[in-house]
Amino acid sequence: MDTSLTAATIQKLVGALRSVLPIDQEVFPLHEPEFRGREWEYVKSCLDEGWVSSVGAFVDRFENELADRCGVRHAIATVNGTAALHAAFMATGVRPNDEVFVPALTFVATANAVCHAGAVPHFVDCDKDRLGVDVQKLARYLEEIAVADGEGSNGPVFRNRQTGRVLRAIVPMHVFGIPMDIEALVDLASKYNLLIIEDAAEALGSKYKERPVGSFGNAAALSFNGNKIITTGGGGAVLTNSDEVAERARHLCTTAKRPHPWLYEHDCVAYNYRLPNINAALGCAQLEQLDTRIELKRKLAKAYGNILKDVSDIDLLVVPEDSVSNHWLNAIVLKPGTSFEQRDGVLEALNKAGLWCRPVWNLMHTLPMFTENPRMDLSCAEDMAARVINTPSSSYLAEGRDDI
Ligand SMILES: Cc1ncc(COP(=O)(O)O)c(C=O)c1O
Repeated sequence: MDTSLTAATIQKLVGALRSVLPIDQEVFPLHEPEFRGREWEYVKSCLDEGWVSSVGAFVDRFENELADRCGVRHAIATVNGTAALHAAFMATGVRPNDEVFVPALTFVATANAVCHAGAVPHFVDCDKDRLGVDVQKLARYLEEIAVADGEGSNGPVFRNRQTGRVLRAIVPMHVFGIPMDIEALVDLASKYNLLIIEDAAEALGSKYKERPVGSFGNAAALSFNGNKIITTGGGGAVLTNSDEVAERARHLCTTAKRPHPWLYEHDCVAYNYRLPNINAALGCAQLEQLDTRIELKRKLAKAYGNILKDVSDIDLLVVPEDSVSNHWLNAIVLKPGTSFEQRDGVLEALNKAGLWCRPVWNLMHTLPMFTENPRMDLSCAEDMAARVINTPSSSYLAEGRDDI
């Protein structure tokens, strides 16, 4: 098979992507924060009234609106998405030395947060259509490695027969906003009594079979970092339907302070992870724009998809029919067999043309701190890591496109 991408194909790609984007702009960052709503007004009211820190009306409002939007009973706003993951692990019952399944294809924060909870990331492969956990492959792998070991306080316990550790949880990630096959994962997880903590950092507003992602697992984490679909500067949230998990997460994020009007009573070692009111003010203003933003991003994805039909050897990653994506980042997929070197050649041409395209993250098991971690066969993630490139995806890029 000829795996090379010709210079002509690469030039055609550059021209095609460029033709979708506004003509009066020279450089196109991957994803920019956008403040086009009531951000100034809401932040000013925090400054005027002095409510800038970790309590205030905007925190409560942001949490209520997030919970509504994501179809869950509780949202706990945190300083960032990594803290939200960490709190979600602790609150759902991930314990030191547990094993937690983590996609090899994810941002490093997913695996880092597992380690912050004292647990051990065990890397799993992705499928090529959604880039999320390959549930069928994981099912076959669990048949091989999982061994039942009686009952724990929360039901049957399964151990990894190779390491002897308890298999406690899995962290599916909805890559670039595309929902992973979460329904199938819920079934598999129940068979092995695995907790599910969804890493929905990239997927606020995405839906799997009409249900918001982040509402399927025992808990989920969102991120509002500056590069996300909405931003609070830095920020995140834990989502959950469980009253107990919500209470534990909130407590652990608030230095484990017992409610009292003046006494400082703390009942365990905990964290200062609460989102300040001034950031939540930004979040409330940003949430008001989420639907408009998703609609613009849908248009941009469609424009990319239409134009790429004419470029051979390169496809746009499409959203499966059972799902709605927030289209956080668009991704093109180079032809099978593309090497990292060839991918880098494409990236260089795109960046030279002002298109600040980016590769996918270095796979987790290739990072120095994770080379010894347990893992399954990761051939799909390894293949896709050399083939996936994100293209400029800010929503304003589709403004005024009434033709789509
Ligand atoms: C998949 C994923 N998980 C976790 C995070 C961590 O979020 P934060 O940067 O807010 O800590 C991010 C984004 O940064 C992410 O993309």
